[in-house]
Amino acid sequence: MKHLLGIEDLTKEDIESLIGSAMELKAARSLDGDKPLFGQTWAMIFTKSSTRTRVSFEVGLNELGARPLFLNANDIQIGRGEPIKDTARVLGRMVHGIIIRTFDQEDVEQLANYSGLPTINALTDEEHPCQILADLLTIKERLGGWERKKVVFFGDGDCNMARSWAWASKRLGFELVIAAPEEFQLDADFRDRLGDSPVTITDDAEAAAAGADVLYTDTWISMGKEEEAADRLRVLAPFQINSDIVAKANPGAIVQHCLPAYRGKEITEEILESHADAIFQEAENRLHAQNAVLVALAGA
Ligand code: CP
Ligand code: NVA
Repeated sequence: MKHLLGIEDLTKEDIESLIGSAMELKAARSLDGDKPLFGQTWAMIFTKSSTRTRVSFEVGLNELGARPLFLNANDIQIGRGEPIKDTARVLGRMVHGIIIRTFDQEDVEQLANYSGLPTINALTDEEHPCQILADLLTIKERLGGWERKKVVFFGDGDCNMARSWAWASKRLGFELVIAAPEEFQLDADFRDRLGDSPVTITDDAEAAAAGADVLYTDTWISMGKEEEAADRLRVLAPFQINSDIVAKANPGAIVQHCLPAYRGKEITEEILESHADAIFQEAENRLHAQNAVLVALAGA
């Protein structure tokens, strides 16, 4: 594994090995642990806001012996139009790895290709692979694994999280149901690319919840979609995770949210707070899952 650009690019073995390594790193976490990235500098280019991703990468890089170099895209020349491929070639001669959060998946691919450095997608409009790895780690810890489990994603069924979940389901073979209104379901091109998979799509949220082991949601208004807010809030309202939906799931089902959460929109205050332990475990797991990715890429 040279990069982490999307779950689409990973094999079942890649994912299983990353989750196994994340569990080991989590158990062994200590400030004076191994420093497999000793002396390295990793650039972190962010074009969009972040709390969890930025903090977990900065802490993780420090703990693994590397220095994070946070670059707000507006402060570097990318913000004034310097091409990604030129930025990539400069970074390739100075730093040891790149973490990028931006809009276009193509920009992440260009950065990886022109820099020659290990590159990590920290969220694009297409995928959020780091989040999925943390989610899978949480499912492993809470439910013992994803085999024979039913995961249901509610809400904007064509957003980066839904797409990454679809690839995870295809690669690992667990059942994924995406409950979304027709205009927010995986688009035709994506479905063609996905091909045969254990993913089903429905606009019936209650039927989707029946027998679920994991109930998952994400904001209805992803970064960059703010102008569509009013329409999204109206159309997505029936896809909220609330007590009626949770009551339909299997006993012991977990509720997951990649965060940030908007209470009263995609999830109720009551459900978020009553499942906060699992949801913030999921947030913590960003650190451990990403450390596993950093160690894998540094050793490649
Ligand atoms: N879940 C997630 O990526 O959170 P941030 O946007 O805060 O990084
Ligand atoms: N779909 C959301 C995820 C946030 C972590 C977004 O892209 O804004």
